Amino acid sequence: MSVGAESVARNSTKSNLKPGESAAKVGDLRNPHADGAKRGRADSFTGGAACHHRTSGAHIRDAMASVMLDNEQGHTPASSRNEARQMIRILGISGSLRAQSYNTALLRAAQSEADAQIRLDIATLHGIPLYDADLEAREGLPAAVVALREQVMASDGLILATPEYNNGIPGVFKNAIDWLSRPANDIPAVFGNRPVAVLGASAGGFGTVLAQNDWLPVLKTLGTRHYSGGRLLVARAGQVFDAQGELTDAGMRTRLKEFVGGFAAFVEGLRAG
Ligand code: FNR
Repeated sequence: MSVGAESVARNSTKSNLKPGESAAKVGDLRNPHADGAKRGRADSFTGGAACHHRTSGAHIRDAMASVMLDNEQGHTPASSRNEARQMIRILGISGSLRAQSYNTALLRAAQSEADAQIRLDIATLHGIPLYDADLEAREGLPAAVVALREQVMASDGLILATPEYNNGIPGVFKNAIDWLSRPANDIPAVFGNRPVAVLGASAGGFGTVLAQNDWLPVLKTLGTRHYSGGRLLVARAGQVFDAQGELTDAGMRTRLKEFVGGFAAFVEGLRAG
């Protein structure tokens, strides 16, 4: 199993991407998909050897240097080319800021249940301010948003772990996705055709079913490829996680493994097609 370090978006008031700047400009350095290249090939840049605790931008830059070195030497070993092709990079985004969040814990359990060719990193939403069009006009995207955006763009697919508040999407989570949809011209580069799965855990008896349904029009608007091959609703989360956030329910672990495996196969199918 390949376990990614949980990465927390950094807090900052400084912006890196100004209104009107597009992914093509920033992405020339950071995003292999920015030129419209087919999504899902990031690993041909990373060579599957990226360090998990740095930003994706850093490892893509390092990996590009390594690819250039291979080219200078005139070859890339066949074994590493195959490894790179098979690796599936999934970014799990937890929609809860809570330290003891069931949804973050669910993503951690997903990491430990994921098969060897799946690299599942976890992003949280710490440091992302409330969306403010005046702030965007003045300073561009906040650094925490840019960091998350880079992680999204370096992934082959996303898993959104959504809490449910008042039978809908929590504002914190929707706010982060709204930031990621700016500037609007970049939506195709950030979200377009990107495979996305939604799962969630709640204290109540319905396991985030209403919040999960609420994501559907949002994801459709952003042009993602929604995974509908399975559903994972973790109800009465207090009974399936222990005090340390360990998913102790064996049946739920099995269902989680099947869900992640099904989503990875979906991602792979889109890549191949
Ligand atoms: C909740 N909770 C909740 N649970 C649920 O099943 N359906 C709901 O509609 C709501 N609504 C709701 C509103 C607000 C404002 C809060 C703070 C909480 C309870 C929720 O499931 C619980 O707090 C989870 O622990 C939230 O997920 P994390 O933070 O553990 O990931």
